[in-house]
Amino acid sequence: MNVAIDGPAGAGKSTVARKVAEQLGYVYIDTGAMYRAVTLAANRAGITSDDTEALSALVADLHIRLMPGEQGQTVLLNGEDVTEGIRTRAVTLQVSQIASHEPVRIRLVELQRELAASKGIVMDGRDIGSHVLPDAELKVFLTASVGIRALRRFKELKDDSITLEQLEQEIAERDASDEKRSISPLIRAQDAIVVDSSELTIDQVVALIVDLSRTKMAEA
Ligand code: DC
Repeated sequence: MNVAIDGPAGAGKSTVARKVAEQLGYVYIDTGAMYRAVTLAANRAGITSDDTEALSALVADLHIRLMPGEQGQTVLLNGEDVTEGIRTRAVTLQVSQIASHEPVRIRLVELQRELAASKGIVMDGRDIGSHVLPDAELKVFLTASVGIRALRRFKELKDDSITLEQLEQEIAERDASDEKRSISPLIRAQDAIVVDSSELTIDQVVALIVDLSRTKMAEA
């Protein structure tokens, strides 16, 4: 069985998906990390986020590997550990634009489908249930209010140079950009179950999704 978890930035997807995978004994795949790795590689190569041709050449020859670890997963870019490097604000501010280029999406989706072929996967992203794995046995759309998501990020960041209002605005902009792009936008698959995490703890969300997964397995 495969589990797809989609939703906007800051809804808690990666933490939830990692814990669900742990409890089910599945492998967790963070597709956002893959788009972030491409963004970092583009930055380093001096490729601007509007240069489709250069991005296309870049992804044709890029090796991204995700390796399960204690704290989520280690991300390797051409063999180099970039787990921390892909979380900078510079990458965060650019990634949505880089992720809107068709050649980038085609290449990464291909990789994601390869990774999921052996089943027993929990994959999180924006277009997993709607596009990458339309046959996933369980699809969850995990969301939370913009205010709550900004507050969670704010606590995580511990950065004095940024205000809660700024974060709220950035998150709203990123949502809009992820929702509006023409290829594989952030969209709820018709058969996805919506889980609103605004009023729930991480553990409550995890328990809910694990329950849903076990129900699906029993049905199969
Ligand atoms: O989940 P995250 O914040 O690490 O994702 C980073 C960016 O990548 C986000 O702006 C949306 C994009 N993304 C995407 O377009 N498709 C995915 N499957 C996963 C992430």
